Amino acid sequence: MNYQLVINEVYNTFRNSTNKGKIANYIPELKKVDANKFGIGLVTISGDSFGAGDYKDTFSIQSISKVFALTLALKIVGNKLWKRVGVEPSGDPFNSLVQLEFEKGIPRNPLINAGALVLCDILISKLKNPKDEFLAFVQKLGNNNNINYNLNVVASEKKYGFKNAAHVNLMKSFGNIKNNIDDVLDFYYHICSIEMSCEALSKAFLLYANRGVLPYTGEEIISLSITKRINATVQLCGLYDEAGTFSFKVGLPGKSGVGGGIVAIHPGKYCITVWSPRLNKKGNSYKGINALELFTTKTELSIF
Ligand code: DON
Repeated sequence: MNYQLVINEVYNTFRNSTNKGKIANYIPELKKVDANKFGIGLVTISGDSFGAGDYKDTFSIQSISKVFALTLALKIVGNKLWKRVGVEPSGDPFNSLVQLEFEKGIPRNPLINAGALVLCDILISKLKNPKDEFLAFVQKLGNNNNINYNLNVVASEKKYGFKNAAHVNLMKSFGNIKNNIDDVLDFYYHICSIEMSCEALSKAFLLYANRGVLPYTGEEIISLSITKRINATVQLCGLYDEAGTFSFKVGLPGKSGVGGGIVAIHPGKYCITVWSPRLNKKGNSYKGINALELFTTKTELSIF
């Protein structure tokens, strides 16, 4: 398969297409990004890297970091995690509070905001220096010491994070948050503020395509069983109330973030990230979904 050729075709199809969608504006710092940025980066489990456009530029990975948080939390507490968070798709937006009260403070899944806040609570309880250790973990997955937090994004989100605060407070009232509310929010905003390029993100996701093993060092980070559970969760919940459409169009597990990135995993083959900051009404990259759909259509490769 000539991945570079297909990436070029996909890139050229969309680079000048009418740029629908809107950049996330509820986190003011994210509005500073050039809305017309567009990059596609693919890395294979055998270490080959392909890309087009702005695939080496870094962007705010936002909710994509929830997958890293899930991985680290499962590595530390194992299947006990599922007592505090479910595994069903929510069918609601990423920041919806609606189900949380009915379901007594147990989030539907770890990839909606409520679920990720529980992951943060667990990591704060288990790690001595949560922010340093989380960053070191992501750097290790990506074999890349340049990955970092963006403290301006942290401050910006903290200032306007009323809904996330509502989530933590509600879950605390049900006993599903153990730590101080401000500490949980601070850690959550840090993990969302991580910046990576399409290329770096695809590389850091390779363990999910490679049975839980880092292809470049051979180190097993998580078991095959945990890898299966993470990929299944990403497939069903990674794009929130658009996860069905994404599966239908793309046919790969994928995770989005309001920074405009979407990363998709092809087990046994590669990871691919598309970045385009203009979002559709569900908060997912408009061009990202279309580009990934064309990519799997042209390569005729999906998990189905
Ligand atoms: O908590 C928030 O609202 C953001 N830090 C993350 C949301 C997000 O990326 C949703 N994904 N599409």
